[in-house]
Amino acid sequence: MSIVVTGATGHLGRHVIEGLLEKVPADQVVAVVRSEEKAADLAARGVRIAVADYNAPETFDSVFSAGDRVLLVSGNEFDKGRVGQHKVVLDAAKAAGVALFAYTSAPGTLTAALADDHRGTEAAILESGVTYTLLRNGWYNENYTENLAPVLEHGAVVQAAGEGRISTASRADYAAAAVAVLTGEGHENTTYELGGDTAFGFAEYAAVVAEASGKEITYNAVPVETYKGILTGAGLPAPFAEILAGVDESIEKGELIVGTGDLSRLTGRPTTPIAESVAVALKG
Ligand SMILES: NC(=O)c1ccc[n+]([C@@H]2O[C@H](COP(=O)([O-])OP(=O)(O)OC[C@H]3O[C@@H](n4cnc5c(N)ncnc54)[C@H](OP(=O)(O)O)[C@@H]3O)[C@@H](O)[C@H]2O)c1
Repeated sequence: MSIVVTGATGHLGRHVIEGLLEKVPADQVVAVVRSEEKAADLAARGVRIAVADYNAPETFDSVFSAGDRVLLVSGNEFDKGRVGQHKVVLDAAKAAGVALFAYTSAPGTLTAALADDHRGTEAAILESGVTYTLLRNGWYNENYTENLAPVLEHGAVVQAAGEGRISTASRADYAAAAVAVLTGEGHENTTYELGGDTAFGFAEYAAVVAEASGKEITYNAVPVETYKGILTGAGLPAPFAEILAGVDESIEKGELIVGTGDLSRLTGRPTTPIAESVAVALKG
């Protein structure tokens, strides 16, 4: 039995591999990657490497074995039909007879277009009959804290989320939940709604950044169309700006507040406060 993690050289995947290595021998962990070179550090630590691409079904032919526990980390190629990509992994895992198929999804409350691929993938998983765990990840702290440069430059957090609140957690928190599922028992055919222990609005976030940076930072709540213009003006492709603006509309409606406590229950620790991630980002 191996634990197989896709997207292993991505931000979340790397946290998952680190967490697994604390709990199981390295030769029981398989990192599925697109670039062997990018995974050289993992191979050097004894992690088994499988090179495969969601766009090339044949590359998954011998990745999985009967009894494996699998984590499919959702892809990031929005223009390539992510449901089809994810089905490539699902079909190969099912054919091999894996014991558990976990998937990083999005909150069940999220109606923004971004959630469509996740709902489509979840439907395919349920239809396939595999034993599954749906990890419906809420938003990452890092979505905001890794984009502090323009906030500090302009002295403003600019979002189109009105007074909406959001319960984010760090990637490391979500990864720890995935590790708990992949190495623990009793998570079969279960859906977890994962998010931070406390919700905040962007005015509070601006205050947190102000406190940590010693600068004056305000929250500038703009209309959705203005926000899209700002994002495309900063070089984002229009379809992606549309997706992000849709997420802000969802935040304003409260769709990214996750009040279940599933995340801290699964990891056995409180989630990482946004202030902590801001401090890490400002140090880096
Ligand atoms: N909840 C949130 O706030 C949030 C925010 C952003 C993204 N997400 C979702 O969560 C996922 C993980 O987040 P992250 O921060 O780790 O993102 P990330 O760093 O962009 O990692 C994405 C991973 O997917 C892999 N990948 C993409 N296309 C692939 C393909 N065609 N075949 C095989 N592997 C492929 C990438 O491989 P390489 O390493 O080779 O590039 C990478 O390892 C994202 O992909 C996205 O679906 C969630």
